[in-house]
Amino acid sequence: MGDRVPRRRLLRWGLGGITGLALPAVVATGAGVRLAMTAGHRSPPVRRFAVALPVPPVLRPVATEGGTDRYEVRQLPAEVEILPGLPTPIWGYEGIFPGPTIEARSGRPVAVRHRNHLTVPTVVHLHGGVTPADSDGYPLDLVLPVGRHDWPGHHVPDGPGGPGGTAGLAHGQRVYRYPNQQPAATLWYHDHRMDFTGPQVCRGLAGFYLLRDEAEENLPLPRGERELPLMICDRLFNEDGSFFYPSLDPELRDRPGVHALFADGVRGDTILVNGVPWPFVPVDGARYRLRILNASNARSYHLHLDPPPPGGAGLVQIGSDVGLLPRPVAHDSLYVGPGERYDVVVDFSRYPPGTSVLLGNGAGDGPTAEVLRFDVGPRVVDDSAIPERLGPDLEPLDVAGAVTTRTFRFLGGQGGLPATINLRTFEPDRLDARVRLGSTEIWRITVDPEHPFHLHLGHFRIVDRNGVPPEPQDGGWKDTVQVRAGEVRIAVRFTGHPGRYVLHCHNLEHGDMMMMANYEVV
Ligand code: C2O
Ligand code: CU
Repeated sequence: MGDRVPRRRLLRWGLGGITGLALPAVVATGAGVRLAMTAGHRSPPVRRFAVALPVPPVLRPVATEGGTDRYEVRQLPAEVEILPGLPTPIWGYEGIFPGPTIEARSGRPVAVRHRNHLTVPTVVHLHGGVTPADSDGYPLDLVLPVGRHDWPGHHVPDGPGGPGGTAGLAHGQRVYRYPNQQPAATLWYHDHRMDFTGPQVCRGLAGFYLLRDEAEENLPLPRGERELPLMICDRLFNEDGSFFYPSLDPELRDRPGVHALFADGVRGDTILVNGVPWPFVPVDGARYRLRILNASNARSYHLHLDPPPPGGAGLVQIGSDVGLLPRPVAHDSLYVGPGERYDVVVDFSRYPPGTSVLLGNGAGDGPTAEVLRFDVGPRVVDDSAIPERLGPDLEPLDVAGAVTTRTFRFLGGQGGLPATINLRTFEPDRLDARVRLGSTEIWRITVDPEHPFHLHLGHFRIVDRNGVPPEPQDGGWKDTVQVRAGEVRIAVRFTGHPGRYVLHCHNLEHGDMMMMANYEVV
């Protein structure tokens, strides 16, 4: 039992807490929010809106057998040009960042063989997926680099038999199986190696997984060229173009953690969309569907259109993290925390041709207050529409009848404090909650001061925030919620599969600092 827990864990966060104690004052009194957020690091300057938005390529299955689409993904080191004229070494699925998009269909299984050609273990998680435990990317279900037979530092059992029957160690490759028994949604896949998720996602290990279904295809929503996945994330760069990430061990071998100034999360001063800095997007005067994903390690956004279209309410939300809403909801702005997705339609025919429309970030300042720019072209024939009805009404939440209420208190991660849930850091061998397959529970997520809550497997709806009804953007089924202050109550439904899963803070540095817990579905 005990040998599954890396021994260094016992000492580590105690020490980190102590060394971090003296530093936050520097952050708090620093010369402005931006420098404080990036702990004083500055990336080489880049001209904004100089590069057109790329769309990640869609991966082709290598085979289709018995109704399952089979994919092969190599996890590769590569060099790409992100800042003009400078090479950036990355780790990418198929050597690109973002990784290739996997397009899947509800009810049609997918199997993805991942081969690890990197120098460290990896884990792949399908975020938002209702996935059997042994394919879910439990953080200790490591895939060792090809040719490696052990990994000192992670004492993980070989083969099946990881904690709670998860998949355990794999050598060089693993096949992840996704049944896709869930409605159309914008999912994404990313690295989830215990202790090192932050740096490994930062290096590029993230991609879209778009799940489609017939119900959605029967709607007249914008599609094809007018459906744009937008992976938004922030990065810091060194002068030579490489990513700056303040790891204690730059090789990511076995000493986890970041320098104390970044303990509250690594935020960048350079905003990337689909892997390029502040792109421009030429659009027709027509409706576009934007699948917004905040893939940042720690940064939250408050997105708005600048200028707003005449009459406002330019961001028409059609979907939440894990599916379409019953009806569209129009917003002037949207908060998007790390890991969250918002599916929105913007009608650019509401703007005079020639208008430049900024996707702005009210939560940023200086360069991080801007994300990308739409350059609106002439009005064109547009047979898309945003139907009044996107799907059936959601059943009313039976809060009083819920079987169990639990509280998860997310505390620390900044100010030199350890990142804890219910005052504990993650232990792979400790089970923190047991739930029944098919049940719905009410969970109170309380935070201090702000944490993006995410759980694997279960999907939820927001019951209230600090005792008042949810916000207009909170509708629909979700897997991640940015808890901005105080408390959020959610109704979580556990369907699909028994087994051991994790819940955690999606501020990836907090997660790596063990702001994570085990729960088991029985
Ligand atoms: Cu997107 Cu457990 O993560
Ligand atoms: Cu957090």
